[in-house]
Amino acid sequence: MTEFILNDRTIRTDAPLGTVLLDVIRYHEHLPGTKIGCREGDCGACTVLVGELKPLDSARGDQVEYRSMTSCLLALANVQGKHIVTVEGLNMDKLSPVQHAMVDESGTQCGFCTPGFVVSLSGCCLSHESVTEDLAIRAIDGNICRCTGYKSIERAASIIAEKLTRKDVSDPLKWSVANGFLPSYFTEIATRLRAITHPTPLVRARDLAPLLGGGTDLYVQKHDTMHHSPIRSVFNDEA
Ligand code: FES
Ligand code: FES
Repeated sequence: MTEFILNDRTIRTDAPLGTVLLDVIRYHEHLPGTKIGCREGDCGACTVLVGELKPLDSARGDQVEYRSMTSCLLALANVQGKHIVTVEGLNMDKLSPVQHAMVDESGTQCGFCTPGFVVSLSGCCLSHESVTEDLAIRAIDGNICRCTGYKSIERAASIIAEKLTRKDVSDPLKWSVANGFLPSYFTEIATRLRAITHPTPLVRARDLAPLLGGGTDLYVQKHDTMHHSPIRSVFNDEA
């Protein structure tokens, strides 16, 4: 059993641990916003944000830190106890400033790459760094677009960076929710992640299974084999 939070829903699944997160999102959870482009980690169409509890100090406890990742190379085993954010999980009653900037600057044409760009740029809101135009451009350097020629997306990134200059880097999550960049459910995620125990007994029972760190080459070269392989995640193993 793997337990994690997908946007605002807690997911418990018995899917094989070698299943890539992209397939869980699209085919098990029926969220089609995360796109399948290359399945090789090159195009960024499958980008999600991955949030993980990280210790601060004894006085402040812990907090959730987010990174963008390509879900086509991320094994389900590495998702235990984490918060996964897809493009659907960024939606609110009105467009976020990130979504607005992409619309206003014509940053989308066919739209296939757009969810990946929106997720990567939304990751800037959650980073503990001060956002500059350069950092916003770097946030999308793993995303490929075949239509726009990138200039419109660069303009959108520049506008987003400008709007994020006032971000509170000590608590970017709280600031982003308060300023309409992220939905309010984000504020409850840390508490909900603390309630998830891991590794689960079933993961521990696979002690003889090979350890998996990342899937960068394995999933490119042996996708079908990996799907059915009994694996343990180095990130979630107690040993
Ligand atoms: S589908 Fe292209 S990076 Fe994942
Ligand atoms: S808008 Fe078509 S690939 Fe980017």
